[in-house]
Amino acid sequence: MRPSFIAAALATLLLSCSPKPESVEKVLTPTPLSIDMAEGTCRFSKAAVRNTIINNTEGHALGKIEKNRNQAYFLRITRDSIIAEACTPVGLFYAQQTLAQLRDAYGETLPCMEITDAPRFAYRGVMLDVSRHFFDKDCIKRQLKLWAKYKINRFHWHLTDGIAWRIEMKGYPELTANVEHYTPEDIREVLDLADSLHIEVIPEIEMFGHSEEVWKVYPHLFCTENERTSEYCIGKESVFTFLEDVLSQTMEMFDSEYIHIGGDEAYKGHWAKCPDCQRRMRENGLKNTDELQSWGIGRISHFINSKGHKMIGWDEILEGGLAPGAVVMSWRGLDGGIAAAAAGHEVIMTPGRYCYINNSQDDPRFEPVSQGGYLPLKQVYEYDPAMGIENEEYVMGVQVNLWTEYVATQKHLEYMLYPRSFALAEIGWSMNERKNWESFHARALKAVESAEAMGYNCFDLKAEKGERTTPQWISDPEVNLALGKDVTIANPYHKQYSASGESTLTDGKFGSWECGKGWLGFLECDTDIVVDLGEEKEISEVMASYGQWYTLWIWMPSSVRFSFSQDGVNFEPGGEVLNTVDTEDMIPSFAEFKWNGNTKARYVRIEGLVRRDEAGAWLFTDEIAIR
Ligand code: ACM
Ligand code: ZN
Repeated sequence: MRPSFIAAALATLLLSCSPKPESVEKVLTPTPLSIDMAEGTCRFSKAAVRNTIINNTEGHALGKIEKNRNQAYFLRITRDSIIAEACTPVGLFYAQQTLAQLRDAYGETLPCMEITDAPRFAYRGVMLDVSRHFFDKDCIKRQLKLWAKYKINRFHWHLTDGIAWRIEMKGYPELTANVEHYTPEDIREVLDLADSLHIEVIPEIEMFGHSEEVWKVYPHLFCTENERTSEYCIGKESVFTFLEDVLSQTMEMFDSEYIHIGGDEAYKGHWAKCPDCQRRMRENGLKNTDELQSWGIGRISHFINSKGHKMIGWDEILEGGLAPGAVVMSWRGLDGGIAAAAAGHEVIMTPGRYCYINNSQDDPRFEPVSQGGYLPLKQVYEYDPAMGIENEEYVMGVQVNLWTEYVATQKHLEYMLYPRSFALAEIGWSMNERKNWESFHARALKAVESAEAMGYNCFDLKAEKGERTTPQWISDPEVNLALGKDVTIANPYHKQYSASGESTLTDGKFGSWECGKGWLGFLECDTDIVVDLGEEKEISEVMASYGQWYTLWIWMPSSVRFSFSQDGVNFEPGGEVLNTVDTEDMIPSFAEFKWNGNTKARYVRIEGLVRRDEAGAWLFTDEIAIR
């Protein structure tokens, strides 16, 4: 053997004995701020483990960390010792989570390294709606345990909503009389576990809307006692007596820094007519119901502050003026967060487009019924919580929300949560420049495997089908005569679902699994569309594509009519194709309505007929192709 060959063989042998340094990057989620590999390995069972709280960070690696140092940690693995250091018990806890992930990956033999780590954002949360469907304390505790492994540190507990009030209140037995709910002991048990996992639990007591469940038992707290309504009356003092009482009990039970008061989607119509609300507005010089809502939220905020807590509300609390010190949870998009941050308020970003994990994470035809949107893992991962916000300092953090209208079981709950909550963990913790989709995807696959081994029911990421694709001929300019051609639409599409306007229909691309991307939406009218081919062509097929999302009141057209013209004025009927999709099916459907035959024409007209029996019915179409 030549010496160089021996050296190479030796090097290979040595390398294969110790894990390759770069592989650590493929192990830890969320990915840490910095990892420095060192020579050698450490036998875990032989190593001395030392956990230390550092009081003085001068000259220490932690000293360089400026943001969220209270959650930072330093972990050094040498041949014979493991040292975890942090300024707080939280930091030490995170060092333990990192060490546990290293142990899962490497077992007994850990590569030597140094990790210095701190989160980008202080707040990394998950919201669970337990009103629409109830999830008992054991189910909640299971989730907390998994979140903690990924350094998720806030649980936003949506305890009240129109379907049911889920937390026992002294003096108000009617609130929880006939529904599954948590006892004070249940709450205590969850809080004790959360404490040990360094997760802050933020209770939400929803007001002034989404409160039909309270109307059912205490109708006197509403503007209209005899008519079912969601909004508390802001004019009546008894309403504030009630709300302050339940908030006091909640603050006492939870003792969290933050209390969430909801504030979203209040219908203000009753307030405009109610004598009590009108009197309140006169007495306080409030010009409209936005200001009335703001006055009510302000009063509640003041009350919460007086008890030593801070208030969080959904971004509607911006309407009519924001209460001093209020934290805005921006859900309707980025705008609420941008406006609140510009006004110097702290924000928690949870925009629907990236953070609403009640939407399907894959091809919805094969997924459980959901709210109707499409939010794959990658889209959660790609979200930067500071997106659009000038001063990142005001972004407290980010959260995913799981509303449970369609989620009734623990299995389904977990299926929606994982792996998308792992992506939340990383976008909340890791710096942008440390993020990498391919790396994260590989780690998410392992995280799913690991969670499943622990008994969690996760979405099968390795079988992910991905975004909707377009049949090849439709994007082929040699085949599709309609590609890029002018389109005229008789009944206007809705401005909220306008994609790229008329050209959407001949862009050679199908819309997304979700109706908000690449689709034109038509409310309570037929789609009446003419494609101009520019000159007379021989035509053997016309295809019009439609989608159905029952949960969004979007149905297939009852039929689609095709007609042809040389001059764009006089159309010859070509035929009518009836819908064959089941319109009671809650799972989304996608259908190509096709005319086949033999004709010559310059203009092709396609009319989709909307359901006549349903007010609020939509039609959605995304593509027309002709060959
Ligand atoms: C919300 O999704 N209504 C906050
Ligand atoms: Zn009223």
